[in-house]
Amino acid sequence: MNIGIDKIAFYTPEYVLDLVTLAKARGDEPDKYTIGIGQDEQAVIPNDEDVVTMGANAARQIVDDQERKTIDMVIFATESGIDNSKSSAIYVQKLLQLSEFVRTIELKQACYAGTFGLMQARDYVAAHPDKRVLVIASDIARYGLATAGEVTQGAGAVAMIVATNPNITLINDDSVYMSREVADFWRPVDRTEALVDGHLSTEVYKEMFLTLWQRYKNQTKHSLNDFTGFAFHLPYTKMGKKALDQIILEADEAQQKRLLNNLIASQQFSRHVGNLYTGSVYLSLLSLLSHSKDLKPGEKVAIFSYGSGAEAELYSMTLQPDFRSSIPAASVAKQLSERQQVSVAQYEKIFQSQLLDSHVDVIRSATKKHHFQFLGWQNGERQY
Ligand code: CAA
Repeated sequence: MNIGIDKIAFYTPEYVLDLVTLAKARGDEPDKYTIGIGQDEQAVIPNDEDVVTMGANAARQIVDDQERKTIDMVIFATESGIDNSKSSAIYVQKLLQLSEFVRTIELKQACYAGTFGLMQARDYVAAHPDKRVLVIASDIARYGLATAGEVTQGAGAVAMIVATNPNITLINDDSVYMSREVADFWRPVDRTEALVDGHLSTEVYKEMFLTLWQRYKNQTKHSLNDFTGFAFHLPYTKMGKKALDQIILEADEAQQKRLLNNLIASQQFSRHVGNLYTGSVYLSLLSLLSHSKDLKPGEKVAIFSYGSGAEAELYSMTLQPDFRSSIPAASVAKQLSERQQVSVAQYEKIFQSQLLDSHVDVIRSATKKHHFQFLGWQNGERQY
């Protein structure tokens, strides 16, 4: 059965921080950020946004009246959920005015959960071919002011509709995956900033990619020549290169060139947004489809998803005949170019104010800035 991504959308907040400016403020070489780590800008989330508003603001771009009638399940993947009990998917259901007769659920496993959500959606549609599933991956990547991880922060959401006969990609049933308890990144429930051993996480990511690549080749009998490109989870864009460099010599020279060009294509959006945790690998896919000139329908791209802690999955997607006209390449580029630059001082002020959020009941009036907004607290519950 042909099942995969029929629609995809991306949303990131309206503020952005230039990382050359941040490097200078932190006493670091700008080239370390832009070349060594591979990040030019990072999204800065304002006080009236969170993972729910970003997820809903992404999903509203692909949920029209027809879709409202057909979506049967909402899967919300996030590392930075807003409540320890209630699923972010329920808030999205309300904001998007979906039917009450849908299933809603939130998934967690660091940056990996978006992929689990997609796999659940694919399997559900395989069992119920007339159903459509909304999968949202939305996160705020937050490490802390003046920490080593600061340059790899970011925020945003990717929303996807999974259905039969999709317009963009088939999700192939060829996954290999693994889980291993590793203390490379975690976030106790009372913290908004992650705790991380960044160098360990980079090593575990590389090792899990290599292990799964060998396993994938053994199971599927595929080789590197069978893929047009890779979409990697990109906590920072250099990470994709570190992973691909481990296997690139398996391909002939022309194929090496093609894969490296397409890796650059896949990194473009992330360079300007930063880490999205759960959504990062799918922003990488969207960037690849938007920027690569040589992708053709029928070709396969490999998807590598990694979530610290740690869990990883490698699988492939097949490009569909209408994929180019079905992706929002121009609107994502426009969204990124229209963001407002903030100074380091403004970014730090916003950052601190979110850490100090007191949960005291207060409701702000809505502005017209973005469609869905976090308005404040009532009875200890977030209001939108
Ligand atoms: N010009 C060019 N390059 C320079 C440079 C300069 N002036 N100065 C340094 N560099 C290079 C270094 O050589 C290094 O390159 P390589 O990695 O290729 O060797 C790179 O810049 C980074 O330098 P450091 O390793 O010294 O940087 P750091 O100690 O500050 O740590 C980091 C970098 C580990 C990515 C850190 O930002 C971090 O901890 N980030 C958060 C964790 C993370 O993103 N982990 C990735 C995998 S985990 C994951 O995938 C899940 C998830 O989303 C968290």
